[in-house]
Amino acid sequence: MRLCALDIRDFRNIAAASIDPAEQATLVVGPNGQGKTNLLEAIYVLTTLRPLRASRFSELIRFGTGRARVEGLFEIAGARRRIAIEITAEGRTASVDGKKAQNLVDYFGGLSVVAFTPDDLAIIKGGPEGRRRFLDRAVFNRFPGHLDACRTYLRALRQRNHLLRDNADRALVEAFDQALVHAATAVIERRLALIAELQESLARCFESIAPGDGGCRLTYMPLGKTLGARLWRDSARPSRQLIAETLQSALSERLGRDLERGFTSLGPHADDLDIIIGQRAARTFGSQGQQRAVILAFKIAELENLRVRVGSPPLLLLDDVSSELDPARNRFLMDYLRNARLQCVLTTTDARLVAPTASAQTRLFTVHQGFFSASRLEEIDASDSASRLEEADDLDSASRLEEAGAPEWSPPAGDSDASRHEADAAPRAASPDSTPASPSPDAPEDADKAEEEPPRAAASAS
Ligand SMILES: Nc1ncnc2c1ncn2[C@@H]1O[C@H](COP(=O)(O)OP(=O)(O)OP(=O)(O)O)[C@@H](O)[C@H]1O
Ligand SMILES: [Mg+2]
Repeated sequence: MRLCALDIRDFRNIAAASIDPAEQATLVVGPNGQGKTNLLEAIYVLTTLRPLRASRFSELIRFGTGRARVEGLFEIAGARRRIAIEITAEGRTASVDGKKAQNLVDYFGGLSVVAFTPDDLAIIKGGPEGRRRFLDRAVFNRFPGHLDACRTYLRALRQRNHLLRDNADRALVEAFDQALVHAATAVIERRLALIAELQESLARCFESIAPGDGGCRLTYMPLGKTLGARLWRDSARPSRQLIAETLQSALSERLGRDLERGFTSLGPHADDLDIIIGQRAARTFGSQGQQRAVILAFKIAELENLRVRVGSPPLLLLDDVSSELDPARNRFLMDYLRNARLQCVLTTTDARLVAPTASAQTRLFTVHQGFFSASRLEEIDASDSASRLEEADDLDSASRLEEAGAPEWSPPAGDSDASRHEADAAPRAASPDSTPASPSPDAPEDADKAEEEPPRAAASAS
């Protein structure tokens, strides 16, 4: 997959931007608060229908305007596809080649993106929900069917929780359990499958980044430590049947307690991913640098795994990551990117940090107050980044001219009303129901909520 052209209107602080990314590295340079992350967020929302960091989609609409729009021209398996997302206070609209996206496969077919932001570095120390979301996004990239599995599971979980809260008859709850167990098993199986695929290359990558730190591995204990250990007792990887039987009996055992509490205490929505460095939990014992090394190793392992198994690497978005890494780790990342033959967009406040990844094909953009300007690559190794800021001011004046006479945004061909694709058009964006993000049992009902809201129409998209 390749992003060939990007058009952004009224997204965050970006009034209008048209960017043609390079085949490999595109560098976006600018001081703090100018719109670097906003650009990556626009690409991320377009390719995943999920926010990169917003909790409400309406946050993405530029202040004082009523509609944000991001459109990308992609090359996927030799064919060109134009996909677009439009966000208003009422909802989101997604289209493919000017027509309403009919379903998830229609929209996402072949799209694949991996983002690495400084927020990812908090995943290890943060709560389990963040780790589940982190894992599920990677699982979805590898197994697109994971999205449906998560949605099916969440629906079953909500139904069960509803019954528990209503203090329903035990037999009635148990009657629902079969569907719940079936859906939960599908979620757990895919998580385990991805971890099995990544384990070796993760360890190798970590060893290159942090040699002598004792190695690293992931442990996903489905159903908690005690039951998880039981699952692994007899096999290298638990079978579907074993997972299903173990979950079924655990649910029955806990039913009394779950009825008292009013929610389901066990399942993929409550699982955690342990990250082990040198035989110890990174969460408790890992240093900041080790945690960064693990996340970096995970992302690279994920990319390489996709390259091998899916046939092409995803688009990589790196948000100001270099400033978070020490010089040796940053060098490792730059070396990797220079040799990896993949498309990536890197943001930075200091071009010198990402300069080593540049080649003759690299494109450089400077950003100032939401305006992007193509810059010369030779500027990248300028030793004084302040001089670049002054240039950015000049470029800004040029961009303002563009704004004054900004051409009307023209939607892609097709009936824009007919292409309106309410919540079902934004199935992944709209909810945990519709997303591989961590299944969460008690999602608030709020149509604009980016992470939690179940899309009304998402079900119809499935
Ligand atoms: N909906 C919005 N409308 C207009 N401006 C917005 C909106 N949301 C955020 N902004 C502005 O976007 C700017 C931040 O952009 P962004 O996060 O992309 O900065 P950045 O270049 O990544 O900075 P840093 O280097 O600090 O990470 C802020 O000035 C913020 O006020
Ligand atoms: Mg930023």
